[in-house]
Amino acid sequence: MSIKEQLNTNIPKHLAIIMDGNGRWAKSKGLLRALGHESGTKTVNRVVDACRDLGIEYLTLYAFSTENWNRPKLEVDTLMRLLVKSLKRELSNFIKGGIRLNVIGNIDALPKKAKEELLSVMEKTKDLDTVVLTLALSYGAREELVNTVQELAEKAKNNLISPHLITEDVIKEHLYTKNIPDVDLLIRTSGEQRISNFLLWQIAYAELYFTPVLWPDFKEEDLYEALLNYQQRERRFGKTSEQLS
Ligand code: IPE
Ligand code: IPE
Ligand code: MG
Repeated sequence: MSIKEQLNTNIPKHLAIIMDGNGRWAKSKGLLRALGHESGTKTVNRVVDACRDLGIEYLTLYAFSTENWNRPKLEVDTLMRLLVKSLKRELSNFIKGGIRLNVIGNIDALPKKAKEELLSVMEKTKDLDTVVLTLALSYGAREELVNTVQELAEKAKNNLISPHLITEDVIKEHLYTKNIPDVDLLIRTSGEQRISNFLLWQIAYAELYFTPVLWPDFKEEDLYEALLNYQQRERRFGKTSEQLS
């Protein structure tokens, strides 16, 4: 039986991925970092299709962090250009595959062209529901939490909510991810074992999976391996093992 056939039950509902290692991939081949990012976009397409085939309903990809604005301007420009190019190229695939595009992060910080392309693809895919593909762009979890606190403080000041009614559910409803369930599995490629300001609230009970594979080299088989590993874990959510069985 192939790995894929062993995976038919207990598929995570929400998979999130920190797509890391494009730069090192390029460097190892003596190429410019831009070519690593370009190659990384091909991995994105393969992974989106594989998730759809597996029945994963929510896929969230960390594409550009608030901290990534500190990279050299040339690299930031390349990433934004690649974003627009990939969105244009993938629109028909999204429509064919029932993939709804969603974005989290401060999209007002993105160049006009990138923002317009995102809004246009989001509009054209808004009624699709096989997979919700969320791109985290100019995203930082701390910034997301600051926004949430500011919105809630404003509501409290205007007597729209009373402070003791601010529950976990209310906070969740004010995050960028309000319509998305918590993350079940978080994968990070490239061997780094850190979160780098991604979805801090939403990963409270996620299973974490780190692989040394660099993002441009990440293949369907690497995804299947991560899922198999996830399926072997016991998610206890604070309970004892006996309580679960
Ligand atoms: C991930 O690859 C892409 C982004 C962060 C935009 P990197 O560009 O971080 O690649 P490394 O970590 O330098 O290898
Ligand atoms: C995290 O990767 C952000 C994305 C994958 C978009 P980085 O490469 O920016 O993270 P650090 O700086 O190594 O923590
Ligand atoms: Mg990196």
